[in-house]
Amino acid sequence: MMEGFHPETSFGPDTARRYDDHLRGDEEAAASFLAGYARHGRALEFAIGTGRVALPLAEHGVRVDGIELSPHMVSRLREKPGGADLDVIVGDMAAETTGRTYPLVYLVYNTVYNILTQEGQIACFRNAARHLDEGGVFVVEAAPPWAWIRGERFVNVERLTAGAVTLDVNQYDHVTQILDENHVSLGADGIRLEPISCRLIWPSEMDLMARLAGLRLVERSGGWNGERFDASSPLHVSVYGPA
Ligand SMILES: C[S@@+](CC[C@H](N)C(=O)[O-])C[C@H]1O[C@@H](n2cnc3c(N)ncnc32)[C@H](O)[C@@H]1O
Repeated sequence: MMEGFHPETSFGPDTARRYDDHLRGDEEAAASFLAGYARHGRALEFAIGTGRVALPLAEHGVRVDGIELSPHMVSRLREKPGGADLDVIVGDMAAETTGRTYPLVYLVYNTVYNILTQEGQIACFRNAARHLDEGGVFVVEAAPPWAWIRGERFVNVERLTAGAVTLDVNQYDHVTQILDENHVSLGADGIRLEPISCRLIWPSEMDLMARLAGLRLVERSGGWNGERFDASSPLHVSVYGPA
């Protein structure tokens, strides 16, 4: 993990305030897909954040609960229309429990990678399994490492205008599978650094984590609209059900 980085301080007040400024654009597609598995009942989002997906899913008639590590992200969720109605616990998705079970538990936007050890990621799968109704599913959406990694050190240009540049500066360790990233924003208001470390998981490793949690892969696609998953897919949507 990157020197000087503390996981508990990422997603602090500044990041939380700016989080929804540049949405991914997949929110409605994700909500429609997930609503099918929630069977118009309840769902639990691990790492619910500011409710980027949970709030559109709630509009499909699903009662969405959440577990989220950052109280700042939860505060931002609370300020949004409908955000105060959701049951959200501040805690670690690998350990915390809501005390309920659900037809659907889900974890999107590469966030399973925010847990920095293989043991912790397995614990997260086990915790998801613990929250499932009989026949319930755990849906994970993440980018496969090969779609992301371009060597041991690489820079992506995230945004480029005449007055401001946002760069994503990355360092990847093939042995630990840890990706250290620093989002660097340069503009008239100065320089901002937003560091984050992740532990990337191969889809096959993820399937074994699910097996250790008593689940098995029942469906995998390359997007929220049933796209075929292959080596050129930018992400995978994996559905794990009872083994
Ligand atoms: C990329 S954001 C995703 C938020 C939301 N799911 C979305 O799709 O917009 C990652 C979120 O994961 C949360 N997080 C990181 N590690 C966590 C953990 N161990 N347990 C619960 N939440 C965690 C962060 O605080 C942050 O809100």
